[in-house]
Amino acid sequence: MTTTKSAPPPALRPTWTRPRAAIAARTLRTDRWWFAPLITVIGLTSWLAYGTVRVFMHKWYWVEQYHYLTPFYSPCVTDRCLPEASHFGQFLPGWWFIPDAALTLPLLLLFRLTCYYYRKAYYRSYWLSPPACAVPDGHKTYSGETRFPLLSQNLHRYFFYAAAIISVINTYDAILAFHSPKGFGFGLGNLILLGNVVMLWAYTISCHSCRHIMGGRLKHFSQHPMRYRAWTFVSRLNTRHMLLAWITLGTLALTDFYIMAIAAGWFPDLRFIN
Ligand code: FES
Repeated sequence: MTTTKSAPPPALRPTWTRPRAAIAARTLRTDRWWFAPLITVIGLTSWLAYGTVRVFMHKWYWVEQYHYLTPFYSPCVTDRCLPEASHFGQFLPGWWFIPDAALTLPLLLLFRLTCYYYRKAYYRSYWLSPPACAVPDGHKTYSGETRFPLLSQNLHRYFFYAAAIISVINTYDAILAFHSPKGFGFGLGNLILLGNVVMLWAYTISCHSCRHIMGGRLKHFSQHPMRYRAWTFVSRLNTRHMLLAWITLGTLALTDFYIMAIAAGWFPDLRFIN
């Protein structure tokens, strides 16, 4: 003989199976929950607008006197690049719609686009999915990252490797910039380039994928003391990942703007040595 069980009353069901409480209001939050998404939209849109203009400007990216190269043009690989700024050759055509750093910029863009923090930022602020905790989603349906194109967010771990290599290139640029017409030189531009590189490394290493590479798939940390140390270090940085994401947007824009200003002759570099 078979018995049929009736469904338990809603109050006894697990929370994730219960429908949303019948509340007429869109949200019960009375704080300024919209402020963070709004600031995010303003910040990211402004940065993207500045970056787009600069990338397609095709000038004021190299200071010959001090060997300053802006990260937005590194490495400069089109045949339009100044030969002195092309540390890795000029193997792409200099058509206007091809960025001079076409080898690295798309990878960096994909690295940031698929970053766990930026995903949260633009899902909330641009896509309103949802705009904040306890605020309804701006869309009727929700499929998360289970379908194309969002399924490809899983490629983030591979973009991490590309970003790490590009950070090595940025470090190389910063070292080459210790230059003046007399040989060795050091100025405010060097401090800005170095600060940017340090912050880029901090952001890249604080990546969730890096943390997994360091300490993931281990059963016993005690048998892998070096990996445990590395994982602990990365984990500490990882707690500041959002902050580092914003700081590096700032240092990238500052570095680029400073080098543009020096290259354009708007003001001279402040020199400490030569
Ligand atoms: Fe943000 Fe990897 S999670 S860079």
